[in-house]
Amino acid sequence: MNFPKNFLWGAATSAYQIEGAAQQDGKGLSVWDMMCRKPGAIWRGQNGDIACDHYHRYPEDVALMKEVGLQAYRFSVSWPRVIPDGMGRINTKGLDFYDKLVDELLAAGIRPFLTLFHWDYPYELYLRGGWLNPSSPEWFAEYAGILAEKLSDRVHDWITHNEPQCFIGDGHRTGVHAPGDKLDWPEVLKAGHNCLLAHGRAVQALRANGRDKINVGYAPVGIVKFPARNEPADIKAAREVMFGMWEKTMWNNTWWMDPVFLGRYPDDGLKIFENDLPPIGPHDMEIINQPIDFFGVNIYSGEAYRMGQGNRMEPVPLDPGHPLTAFYWPVQPEALYWGPRFFQERYKRPIFITENGMANPDWVAQDGHIHDTQRIDFTHRYLQALGQAIRDGVDVRGYFHWSIMDNFEWAEGFKQRFGLIHVDFNTLKRTLKDSARWYQQVIARNGLES
Ligand code: GCO
Repeated sequence: MNFPKNFLWGAATSAYQIEGAAQQDGKGLSVWDMMCRKPGAIWRGQNGDIACDHYHRYPEDVALMKEVGLQAYRFSVSWPRVIPDGMGRINTKGLDFYDKLVDELLAAGIRPFLTLFHWDYPYELYLRGGWLNPSSPEWFAEYAGILAEKLSDRVHDWITHNEPQCFIGDGHRTGVHAPGDKLDWPEVLKAGHNCLLAHGRAVQALRANGRDKINVGYAPVGIVKFPARNEPADIKAAREVMFGMWEKTMWNNTWWMDPVFLGRYPDDGLKIFENDLPPIGPHDMEIINQPIDFFGVNIYSGEAYRMGQGNRMEPVPLDPGHPLTAFYWPVQPEALYWGPRFFQERYKRPIFITENGMANPDWVAQDGHIHDTQRIDFTHRYLQALGQAIRDGVDVRGYFHWSIMDNFEWAEGFKQRFGLIHVDFNTLKRTLKDSARWYQQVIARNGLES
């Protein structure tokens, strides 16, 4: 099953999850450095102080990416590594790290995709209110402009935010992610509105400071509902649930995607939150709705829906024993068919799958290899579904596997392994898993054997 001629095969990581060097070479603290110091916040009290030590080992890691045959690599920049206090003074050693990483990637023939924000918010700015501060969009725009000035001659693909559903919802409402706040809805929505304004202001800053062609995208979570049967009634049910808001939660699609791509909050969400809304300035939605070039989306799983009795849209329960990953996320390849299809219908942008993968109980077998057959089967099934979506006319430009290497999985610490490459977190030894060799073949043939 071949993919389109210029389809881009990649893999993804994020700064806090792999870099380590958490307080080296002038880096400022992030809210994740502080979260990991809260007793009970992280599994077994683990943290990203060292992580994969990618900060020091990036030449070896890029060489491994080249061995796997990656055509693109999605990484994030640690905002406090570049600007220790989040605004003002630049840490030249921090900026130099990304400068060298980009050169290493280009020398290896790998196209860099840069994510501006993947959760490691500068702690000094958090102390000034963080996303609640009305200046937070300007802080983010300043940061974006500095990176564009330094890197946009070589980096042409930029993503503003990774998963606002998580860093606003889990960071400011449930409290399971950094900064670990449990705020009332008015404050959560204010933080969310400012982060969307920050997205828009960053797009403007990237375009204003870009020294060359810049493609800008966004990478929310894609929360996918798919039809139990490929019939109009079930398709209608899945689409309506996927793009509806039914309760006060940040875990949804339209609250985060409609403003960016359609220039408005969804009406059902505005109704649900009508007593919690922040002040929305006369030009806010115009700022948020900056034209951008691609719809990045992180898709791992999905949920089947059908149109039941009396036109009730109802979820279809999983069969007993339905395959689950080590995170207990259901294996649902249909999500990588219907998700891109529904998102393109609504937002009409080229799509990159900016994350897809699975947690698996990987370990080094006695023969010295890591036989992660589940990850191979999982990825095969999801890519079959994605290939079918493309053949049915969905404009998917590329796929980034999460992740190129095992890394720090936030509140789960190092419990969950997502990598194509195994990392021994005691010795930091890297070992290509069987899935890395399999992915190498997929890339080489630009598709699947079946
Ligand atoms: C996310 C984040 C990643 C996670 C990955 C596995 O999507 O939650 O972007 O940082 O590590 O998704 O949970």
